Amino acid sequence: MQQRAQDLRRAGRAIGLVPTMGALHAGHVSLLERARPGCDVVAVSIFVNPLQFGPGEDLERYPRDLSGDRAKLVAAGCDLLFAPEAADLYAPEARTSVEVRELQDVLCGWSRPGHFRGVATVVAKLLHLVLPQVAVFGQKDAQQAILLRRMVRDLDWPVVLRFAPTVRDPDGLALSSRNAFLAPEERREALLLHESLNEARARLEAGERRASAVVDAARRVLGRGRSLRIDYVELVDTETLLRVERAEGRCLLAIAAFVGRTRLIDNLLLEVRGSRVAEVELEA
Ligand code: PAJ
Repeated sequence: MQQRAQDLRRAGRAIGLVPTMGALHAGHVSLLERARPGCDVVAVSIFVNPLQFGPGEDLERYPRDLSGDRAKLVAAGCDLLFAPEAADLYAPEARTSVEVRELQDVLCGWSRPGHFRGVATVVAKLLHLVLPQVAVFGQKDAQQAILLRRMVRDLDWPVVLRFAPTVRDPDGLALSSRNAFLAPEERREALLLHESLNEARARLEAGERRASAVVDAARRVLGRGRSLRIDYVELVDTETLLRVERAEGRCLLAIAAFVGRTRLIDNLLLEVRGSRVAEVELEA
């Protein structure tokens, strides 16, 4: 892969990379579109990264469909697919990993210890293997996007990150490969994630600025779910991911919840200025 990437670069071609774990859906495809401008080669990696799954998590049952994914990528005009095996990427003697201190420990990092070390390490490797000038990530995984932005800045990485907004089903459910696990009744309860974000936004639009009140409003909506268990609901700063007391400037309302056995996340990225509340995109 690296040889091929070096050849492409020598030929003056700009590479855009979309890292994924496969089981592709329209959210992934939207990242491809985001990669296209200014890039001659749009590359997608598919790799279910064992390093970012904790013990007892869903590594074994994570959905895999390489031939279906390949067809979707051809239809979406992807130029290059990199789908390594775990043994290709991780030598047993490997001893190096990438940590993005503090950002890796909060929100999803709190309930999934080691998860973001696995994400940062594999993305570092993918960037070195595919050598893209541009890499695209979804705001659906806002903590991941913010943490990778930090990594790229801290390590002076010669790559530009682009972020793309969350693609949802018409009823509001954020697309996720893990939605495939949801039974019909669970899928209905999963809609509460989006509904709770809407409720929180409505509170903000009505002038509420206390983070605790906004978070409580979201929690109350989630509380309606019978098989739903809240992991966290937090209003945080978009750079530090630390809790804020008041909604002001750019902030991230982030939710994680289990619906049955399936862990789902969703979020709202907001800019609050005076009485105005606007949904915004993550800045590169
Ligand atoms: P995966 O969950 O497959 O997601 C791949 C990319 O698609 C991520 O950048 C994610 O934010 C984005 N994405 C997922 N659902 C989306 C949606 N509904 N709308 C828009 N974008 C969406 O995230 C990972 O894989 C892995 O952690 C990875 C970065 C590949 C490292 O292993």
